[in-house]
Order: sequence, then C-alpha cells, then structure tokens
Amino acid sequence: MDQHICLTGIKPTGSIHIGNYFGAILPALELAKDHKAFYFIADYHALNTIKDGAVLKEYTRGVAACWLACGLDPSKVLFYRQSDVPQTFELSTMLMAFSAKGLMNRAHAYKAVVAENAQANREADFGVNMGLFTYPILMAADILLFDATLVPVGKDQFQHIEIAADIAGAFNHNYKTDAFKIPAPLVNSDSQLIPGLDGKKMSKSYGNTIALFQEEKALRKQIMRIVTNSQGVEEPKDPETCNLFALYKLVATKEQQDELACRYKAGGMGWGEAKEALFQALNSKIAPMRDRYNHYISHPSEVLDILNEGAKKARAIAQKKIEALRSIIGIA
Ligand code: TRP
Repeated sequence: MDQHICLTGIKPTGSIHIGNYFGAILPALELAKDHKAFYFIADYHALNTIKDGAVLKEYTRGVAACWLACGLDPSKVLFYRQSDVPQTFELSTMLMAFSAKGLMNRAHAYKAVVAENAQANREADFGVNMGLFTYPILMAADILLFDATLVPVGKDQFQHIEIAADIAGAFNHNYKTDAFKIPAPLVNSDSQLIPGLDGKKMSKSYGNTIALFQEEKALRKQIMRIVTNSQGVEEPKDPETCNLFALYKLVATKEQQDELACRYKAGGMGWGEAKEALFQALNSKIAPMRDRYNHYISHPSEVLDILNEGAKKARAIAQKKIEALRSIIGIA
C-alpha cells in the first residue's frame, strides 16, 4: 500500500457493457486492492446531458448497483454520490477564480461541440451550457478535494486531469502553498483491446456493445451476432486475429484458451461452436454478478444505505479540506 489516493468519477449511464467492465470497472477494483480508493458517481456532471429526473435517478441507482455487483467492497472503497458532498461545489467555486477561460476553450469536449457547430454553420456556442463549459473545473474539484494523486480514466479524460493539475498548480503558486496535491491520470491501456460485435473497439458510440447484465438468453443471442470472417467449418483458423478469441481470453482460464486455440488451428470447428464456447465462459463469469445486480436493483434501499454511509465519511474528509482552504484564501 503506497501513499497514493486513487479516485475516479463514474458517470451514470444506462448502458453498462462488457467493455466498461473489463476496461474500467475491473482495473479500478484491482487498483483498489492496494491503494486507498475513492470512487464516486458523478451525478452533477451527468446533469449537463441528462435532463429527465426519473432517468438520472434510474441511471444513478443502476450504476451504483453495477459497481457493487462487480465486487466493489464499500468497507474498503469510499463509494458515494458527488451530489452528497456539497463541499465539492464550494471548492468548484474557489477553483473558478484560478481557471483561465482560455484553458476551458481548449478542452476537447467543448472544442468538439464548437467544431460541430462550425460544420453545421451554427453559432459557435450553440447547445453549450455553462455546465459543459466548466466541466473540467467541477472535475478538478472532485479530485483536489480528496488529495487524489492517481486518477484511473479512459484516454478521453486525460486532458481533464491535466487541467486539474494546472488549476491546482495555479492555486498553490499564488498562495505559496502545497495545499493541493498534483493529480496524474492512470490510463488502462488494455481497454483498447476489447472488441465489440463488429470487431471495432467496443463503444456506445459505435453501437457495437454487449450489455453486461442482460439475461442469459439475450446475451447468447448477442454473442451469436458477433461478426466473424467467412471461413468454412473445415478451414484452420487463427485465434490471434480473431475478435471472438480476444473476448474469450478475457473470461477463460489459460487451459481453456490453449484448448480452444488448438481447435482453431486444427480446423473442423465452425464459428458457431467458437461462439458457444465464448458464451459459456462469459456467462459463467457474469452469472453471479448478474444475480447480485438484480438483487440490488430490486432492493434500492440497500444501495442507498451504502451510498449514504460513504457520503458521510466523504463529507467529513471534505469538510476538513474546505476549512483549510478557506483559511488560505482569507474566507474563514
Ligand atoms: N468526466 C469523467 C467521465 O466522463 C467522470 C468524472 C467526473 C471523473 N469527475 C471525475 C473522472 C473525477 C475522474 C475524476 O468519465
């Protein structure tokens, strides 16, 4: 156990897929085994895009149930909702004063919308709300509030962590203090290797995902839809270039992998059989988690109790930090 505190924000979303599990959830849970870890649901970040209260509530509960089902142990990981820690929003206000507008102009997510608007001949800021524009500042507050130094995120979030480090540096420099720890991103490189139904990287934006907690029958149906090449049954096949096999590797034991690889190379095995093997291995891995997920979904008060417990602890830590910061800035 080293000194690092790792922290990450989980955006509530309606579609958690096996790419999320193997690319983000599992690595974050592994990291938590030998680090102090703070994992929270970034519900105020989601508000920028989800403006239906019932939907936001459903997604928040779903994503919390998902992480618990996947094995997050709330006695070891501080697990809470961002909205339950109001100190985040006070810190965000402080950080506004140290966040150059130009820095926000250069944030990828904002720039992408501006570029889209230019393409469509619309006003540059069409459809941009201030929540989107200041998204990196709120994210910096999430991180700096808890002295987090390691932030496991996807590549798309890299720049946001750099912005948080910038803002922290500007504050520290101004007050000649080291009140803020400087955070760094931790990118899970393997996440690129999880192919979706069409063989491209599994991603919601490509519409090629395999949902994590669908019922067994639906899962089987999706696996059978995975695109393969047109090699016939008798032809020997190459496991190393096969997207089915890449998925199989995530869930099968070494022996199972070797065995299936042999059958690929020998010929005489059709894609249907390989898909069946993948389904069996994936399903037996997912089944116990799916049961726990279904349990949490039908017992939402258990999930809320866990989140409330986490929030209590998080608020206590956050309050201390805020008091120290208030004193530094002259608001005490
Ligand atoms: N922006 C992140 C995402 O879209 C979620 C997030 C919010 C986050 N606050 C954070 C991630 C703080 C890491 C640290 O996935």
